[in-house]
Amino acid sequence: MSRNTSPRLEVDALTVTFGGLTALDDVGFTVDSGEIVALIGPNGAGKTTVFNAVCALVRPAAGTIRIGGRPAPRRPEALLDRGVARTLQGLGLFGGMTVLENIVIPIAGAPDRDARAASALERAELGGVASSDIDALPYPVRKRVALARALVTRPDLLLLDEPAGGLGDDDIEDLSIRIRAVRDDGCSVLLVEHHVDFIMSIADRIVVLDFGRVVACGTPDEVRADPAVESAYLGWEAA
Ligand SMILES: Nc1ncnc2c1ncn2[C@@H]1O[C@H](COP(=O)(O)OP(=O)(O)OP(=O)(O)O)[C@@H](O)[C@H]1O
Ligand SMILES: [Mg+2]
Repeated sequence: MSRNTSPRLEVDALTVTFGGLTALDDVGFTVDSGEIVALIGPNGAGKTTVFNAVCALVRPAAGTIRIGGRPAPRRPEALLDRGVARTLQGLGLFGGMTVLENIVIPIAGAPDRDARAASALERAELGGVASSDIDALPYPVRKRVALARALVTRPDLLLLDEPAGGLGDDDIEDLSIRIRAVRDDGCSVLLVEHHVDFIMSIADRIVVLDFGRVVACGTPDEVRADPAVESAYLGWEAA
């Protein structure tokens, strides 16, 4: 049996426009199997728009997106079956519901729903707060719930939009361990982040966007040494 050696995600010549604004301009990059790739860039660079295009929430003006070697679905509902999960910038959780109720949402129709939810809760060390109201929990715990809600779908491509946003150093360290564990289980990870130290320590490769264009791409060391990155990033850490 031949194995599928296509990249988990291939974005090629992707252009997205909103009215007169070109949010993405000829963007291309890949995420290989078992790779952690960071997408970085100043506010408004187009990072979330890349996620939205991959997830079929915006329709590209041009370009192609392939997931596991096949064209990406055109309907967001089809992503789950293609092994793609994402977290949203911020939290994106449902207030007035418990932790368990939030986690079960993406697998509500699955016959083994309860067992999968229990395993996701355990893995995220959320078993003790399963029936807690989501609004009553500290922010770092809620961020962990958002991650668990993506992982409960057992993705092989995980898109994380600012997973470290609003977290302190200890929680970022905990997050790094969790993301590496996801990768070690064979899931590719594409993450958007503003925390430089976190990105440099966790990413296998970094793609730098500025004004909707890829201005640099490479290993953390290559990107750090690239003059284009410094000019794109003046002031970005304040965001
Ligand atoms: N639905 C939309 N309609 C119109 N313009 C949009 C829409 N979504 C994004 N934009 C614009 O596209 C550009 C890229 O936005 P995007 O949210 O992708 O940036 P980002 O890199 O994620 O920024 P941040 O770091 O602030 O999250 C911005 O100028 C934004 O205002
Ligand atoms: Mg964004």
